[in-house]
Amino acid sequence: MQAIAIINLKGGVGKTTTTVGLAQYLAEQGKKVLVIDLDPQTNATVMLVGEEKWDELNKAGHTLNTLFRDAVNSTHTFNLNETLQKGVSGIKSVTTLDLLPSSIDLIETQEQLAKAVYTNTSTLNLYDVLYNGIQSILGAYDYVLFDCPPDLGLITRNGLHVAGSYIIPTIPNILSTWGIPQVVKHVKRYEPNIKALGVVATMVWGAGKQSNAVTKILAELEDETDAPLFNTRTKRIDVFAAAAEYEEKNTVEDKWGGAYNFFKELSAEIQTKLENAK
Ligand SMILES: Nc1ncnc2c1ncn2[C@@H]1O[C@H](COP(=O)(O)OP(=O)(O)OP(=O)(O)O)[C@@H](O)[C@H]1O
Ligand SMILES: [Mg+2]
Repeated sequence: MQAIAIINLKGGVGKTTTTVGLAQYLAEQGKKVLVIDLDPQTNATVMLVGEEKWDELNKAGHTLNTLFRDAVNSTHTFNLNETLQKGVSGIKSVTTLDLLPSSIDLIETQEQLAKAVYTNTSTLNLYDVLYNGIQSILGAYDYVLFDCPPDLGLITRNGLHVAGSYIIPTIPNILSTWGIPQVVKHVKRYEPNIKALGVVATMVWGAGKQSNAVTKILAELEDETDAPLFNTRTKRIDVFAAAAEYEEKNTVEDKWGGAYNFFKELSAEIQTKLENAK
């Protein structure tokens, strides 16, 4: 089992898009894949099950929020079987993709969890909540992908605690790449054994002079960051945004169109990196 967290402090850089497209691609290739949505924005959940189903799950408490609330309240109401959504994505050729859904209520729960860090007198480790809640099913998957919120808060830390490696998607502009060396340093401090698979440039734009600027930004980033840069990258193209909508499709290529090759190449490069790390 390979557990990979998709992280960045910066918002809107392609974390969710990378998580969901990669998960769909890997599942279509016959891998058993689990997406764990740790972001209260619930974007990965809505992309994979649609808004209506998400609403139903949220009302029933069948989201990861219940797991984290249990930790705050010392209750045992989280039902893993009912929360785990099997065979998600709406794509006919994708049959082995499961999801642990997120909830907007995670915002408040994370605050209470943070308070509990200071007031908790029990032996409960608040970075272990996710692992303890889901470890019984992890062995059933080839890949577990964590879609994280744009922060390194308690919920993201729970994901990093289960993950064996991580990927940082970024837009190659100065403001987006600025904090990445710090992200890598912090993660190393929290989880010394986690492997930085690398930084993926998403939404690359421009030709001529502008594309020289992108090359320069990425070269500087590689110099300053203790994590490699993926060869795989993708341009800024509209099909990515269009694919965010939950719709029934026949294949992953039907779903992502011109963006399909990005996931194909990224998956191959990730697999090579994981093989080399053995
Ligand atoms: N290569 C691309 N070209 C154009 N648009 C893209 C590309 N990749 C992602 N997008 C779009 O950009 C927006 C942000 O992407 P996404 O939601 O994946 O980022 P994120 O890092 O998960 O954001 P957040 O931090 O808010 O969770 C989305 O509308 C998405 O559809
Ligand atoms: Mg996101």
